[in-house]
Amino acid sequence: MAGSGWGTILRMTTWGESHGRGLGVVLDGFPAGLELEEADIQRYLDRRKPGQSRYTTARREGDQVEIWSGVFEGRTTGTPISMLVRNTDQRSADYSAIMDVYRPGHADYTFDEKYGFRDYRGGGRSSGRETIGRVAAGAAAAKLLESLGITVTAYTRSIGPVRIGDGRFDLEEAQRNRLCMPDAAAAGEAERYLERLMAGNDSAGGVVECVIKGLPAGLGEPVFEKLDARLAHAVMSIGAVKGVEIGDGFRAAESTGSENNDGFRAVLDDETETAVPDDETEPAIPNDETEPAVPGGAAAGGFGTAANAGADVSHGESLRTIDTKRRPNRIRKTANHAGGILGGISDGDTVVLRAAFKPTPSIAQPQRTVDRQGRDTEIAIRGRHDPVIVPRAVVVVEAMAAFTAADLLLANMTSRMEYLREIYR
Ligand SMILES: Cc1cc2nc3c(=O)[nH]c(=O)nc-3n(C[C@H](O)[C@H](O)[C@H](O)COP(=O)(O)O)c2cc1C
Repeated sequence: MAGSGWGTILRMTTWGESHGRGLGVVLDGFPAGLELEEADIQRYLDRRKPGQSRYTTARREGDQVEIWSGVFEGRTTGTPISMLVRNTDQRSADYSAIMDVYRPGHADYTFDEKYGFRDYRGGGRSSGRETIGRVAAGAAAAKLLESLGITVTAYTRSIGPVRIGDGRFDLEEAQRNRLCMPDAAAAGEAERYLERLMAGNDSAGGVVECVIKGLPAGLGEPVFEKLDARLAHAVMSIGAVKGVEIGDGFRAAESTGSENNDGFRAVLDDETETAVPDDETEPAIPNDETEPAVPGGAAAGGFGTAANAGADVSHGESLRTIDTKRRPNRIRKTANHAGGILGGISDGDTVVLRAAFKPTPSIAQPQRTVDRQGRDTEIAIRGRHDPVIVPRAVVVVEAMAAFTAADLLLANMTSRMEYLREIYR
């Protein structure tokens, strides 16, 4: 099966099935000298692992990572990094009922059509467990990014109709509650919503929001390898993702040019003084966009708005007249509707993306389906499944965003002669 790899300079190849002996990833292209140990990877895998609350599958897996190659004395050697997680709690018998029957909303039918043969145990390669390799890869990429002052953070923005509320954004809260929501009140409401669905043998979807901070301007390769295109591809490749937004996303279509354009402003050497570079007539930013109280403006329609997503985007600072004797040494934006990307290239602002997850397809409610012989039948899925995928997928989105950003960071090193001179002279 082709299609198990991602990245150009940094490359991950994930392997393994839900009920095979284990799963893992091979990473190539990591520079030598990055401090990396199993604990760095385990921290990320622990956020993904099943069995942590009644809102995740009851399968009990330790998901302990083993680094088999590419790291020596706590640092990467520049050779392929191979990582393995063994499966320990497979109950393949749970899946004998779906051996010959297609689960609605899952990949059983399409895998059978494509290959004429499939590993039906736990969904094989189409299982959520496939994301173990991605998360391990993303953890290594995040370590690389962190060493350069770049952070990637994801959290649950909504579950079903329950969204994080205006003025209640608290990132630490996302680490405390079981749904990874940065809003305790919304998390409580979402739990009550899930309880109602679970009582009816149903499942829920939701939205994960991810912000990348500290990314320099210039990442993304026009035209087919744009940063937004790469991020969308990376995140859309995660099972159950049905939509990706960058910045204001779909809401930009309802906006006007004057509302949607992010103004530019210059930041002078002393960093405290700001100036409008060439358009001093630009109107001040309206009040409702000046306070990034809640990422994405939780009350908004669509997935949300990036006007104030990612918290510390640079809107609302006072604009002063330009001092023509002094040269600006940085350019900032006055808002961030673009979600940190212009022309497919990072603009130095916070990158904001959102992923919409559909409800878990495997539900215990009786549903109409067919068997492999094409006969009508009914199915009620009894195995162990996540009633909502979103809380476990938060770290998967974060991992894919981190890996993609790190890959494009390395790719950008060849964009100017001066960069090459700096390395080789
Ligand atoms: C972290 C994660 C966990 C998942 N857990 C389940 C699950 O327990 N049961 C299920 O039916 N699908 C689960 N899925 C979703 C399926 O993998 C996905 O819906 C399926 O492969 C079909 O692909 P599609 O939804 O992208 O069309 C999970 C996905 C992810 C990313």
